[in-house]
Amino acid sequence: MPDGPGLAASVAAAPASGVQPAIAVSGLAKRVADASGELTILHEVDFTVQKAETLAIVGASGSGKSTLLGLLAGLDTPSAGKVVLDGVDIYALDEDGRAALRKEKLGFVFQSFQLLPHLTALENVMLPLELRGANHARESAEMMLERVGLSSRLKHYPKYLSGGEQQRVALARAFVTEPPLLFADEPTGSLDAATGEAVIKLMFELNRQHGSTLVLVTHDQAMAARCSRTITIAAGRLV
Ligand SMILES: Nc1ncnc2c1ncn2[C@@H]1O[C@H](COP(=O)(O)OP(=O)(O)OP(=O)(O)O)[C@@H](O)[C@H]1O
Ligand SMILES: [Mg+2]
Repeated sequence: MPDGPGLAASVAAAPASGVQPAIAVSGLAKRVADASGELTILHEVDFTVQKAETLAIVGASGSGKSTLLGLLAGLDTPSAGKVVLDGVDIYALDEDGRAALRKEKLGFVFQSFQLLPHLTALENVMLPLELRGANHARESAEMMLERVGLSSRLKHYPKYLSGGEQQRVALARAFVTEPPLLFADEPTGSLDAATGEAVIKLMFELNRQHGSTLVLVTHDQAMAARCSRTITIAAGRLV
């Protein structure tokens, strides 16, 4: 059992057994309408990720990685198939149910960061803690921003942060609740080698210390190599 009693207690919606995988994907597909009719972005994919596993998703630009990650996190709706997170079939839930599950279990780092522009760096990181009614939101957020090297940028609004700084705020926001499931889309895409290394270290620390399951989309072979498993997507299919 990779996850401790604290974590298990916080994952209240899951059935008691604890033996189910962190993520079970079956027949998952995404099709969208386009000018020429229908475009299949993701063909039916099936895979399973065990708790505390670290999975890299790699593939060329446009192959469907971000689409897949969004579907895994309940941020999109599939055209077919299922995503079961810790025993919960997320697309059988309504939108509110999925939002509650995301709040409880999930950290997500978007490829485009998606910081809230009217909140400072510190406020962006405090938000998920405040939504959970956590005590010491400010202290925890400050500590996490320090871990990503941004102690001197707490009061900056996103538009006054560099791309790499915004990415680190997005990472801090995803990590600060120590979620059992951590999804990150190109988490080091805007970072220099040393900062990227610090962020990778932080993600794998969360994995080790809290048994967090990590799913990382990356073009970085070195990061993929550090994951316990890699899946490759080409033109919307697993290869
Ligand atoms: N809503 C949509 N409507 C039409 N096409 C879409 C939509 N969403 C994604 N696509 C297309 O699906 C393909 C896969 O997109 P996706 O963003 O998943 O790629 P990716 O593998 O993450 O690429 P990158 O490495 O460049 O981030 C792309 O060709 C994209 O243009
Ligand atoms: Mg992408």
